[in-house]
Amino acid sequence: MTTLAIIGPGAIGGILAAWLAQNPEHAVTVCARTPFDRLEVDTPEGHLTATPRVVTDPADAGAVDWVLVATKAYDAESTVPWLAALRREDTPVVILQNGVEHVERFAPYVPVQHLVPAVIDCPAERTAPGRMRQRGASWIVVPDTPNGRAFVPLFARTNFDVSTGDFRSRAWAKLCINAPGAISAILMKPTGVIQVEPIAELTRGIVRECLAVGRAEGAVLDDDIVEAVVEGARKAPPDSLNSLIADRMAGRPMEIDARNGAVVRFGRKHGIPTPLNEMAVALLVAAQDARSFRG
Ligand SMILES: NC(=O)c1ccc[n+]([C@@H]2O[C@H](COP(=O)([O-])OP(=O)(O)OC[C@H]3O[C@@H](n4cnc5c(N)ncnc54)[C@H](OP(=O)(O)O)[C@@H]3O)[C@@H](O)[C@H]2O)c1
Repeated sequence: MTTLAIIGPGAIGGILAAWLAQNPEHAVTVCARTPFDRLEVDTPEGHLTATPRVVTDPADAGAVDWVLVATKAYDAESTVPWLAALRREDTPVVILQNGVEHVERFAPYVPVQHLVPAVIDCPAERTAPGRMRQRGASWIVVPDTPNGRAFVPLFARTNFDVSTGDFRSRAWAKLCINAPGAISAILMKPTGVIQVEPIAELTRGIVRECLAVGRAEGAVLDDDIVEAVVEGARKAPPDSLNSLIADRMAGRPMEIDARNGAVVRFGRKHGIPTPLNEMAVALLVAAQDARSFRG
């Protein structure tokens, strides 16, 4: 029996927990902030039900073989009591989040040799605690390390395509796709706003900055990614929402720092100007903070 704990049963964590629990060789524990009885997940392969153990207090969580973290990036520090309760000395901790700083974010809490950064693509949303929708094909890439290689077979009975590969390049490629999502979140308009040509050009500019910074960080990225991001947005359902705008609409914090903030930070490190991403960060921070100025 392999024991796994998933911290953060939102869209990603809930879907991962439901799929991993389908394997009778897995004992899955879900570490939740908001409790629920069971997982009900709509997937492209049909409806999944799972009844993993759900705990809301680290004192009730025992040590496990694998820890998966699927909170938003800004909630990393709040997982520390869980990590302390769930980890044996060498338990690997897989970080399934957006951005490029998975290891840096958790290095203060877990020895880096036990951290497994993961790029995850899984179009998903949570409709209520324990209720998720997986909207399409999903994949995960982890580094080609002993822990990365041991992680892959855990997904044998899932619909995820999980592989080892060039984490850095895949993470920066995903950031190139995510970074222009800031435009929707600033305008409070769904993805269809890409049909306005100046917005397509702004999208190209944001991606080009991310591309230049990612390359300076050592990511292998193709120039074609700029047009691919624009084309991807043009072909997406016009009413689709990226997670920044979805979080802003719901009044939740946004992953500004892990996304456009990372482009700006790494740009400064390499002396690469990133004015468009810098403006996106400033506008989104102001939009987020403005909530506290309302009467
Ligand atoms: N959704 C997508 O389509 C998608 C795709 C690829 C990558 N990602 C990335 O995956 C990560 C997770 O995204 P998501 O969409 O799944 O986020 P989400 O739906 O907001 O879920 C985050 C979950 O973490 C829980 N949480 C936060 N702090 C916690 C703590 N200390 N202990 C226990 N639970 C805690 C939240 O609890 P509450 O229930 O109390 O809020 C929530 O259930 C993000 O980095 C995101 O960018 C998302």
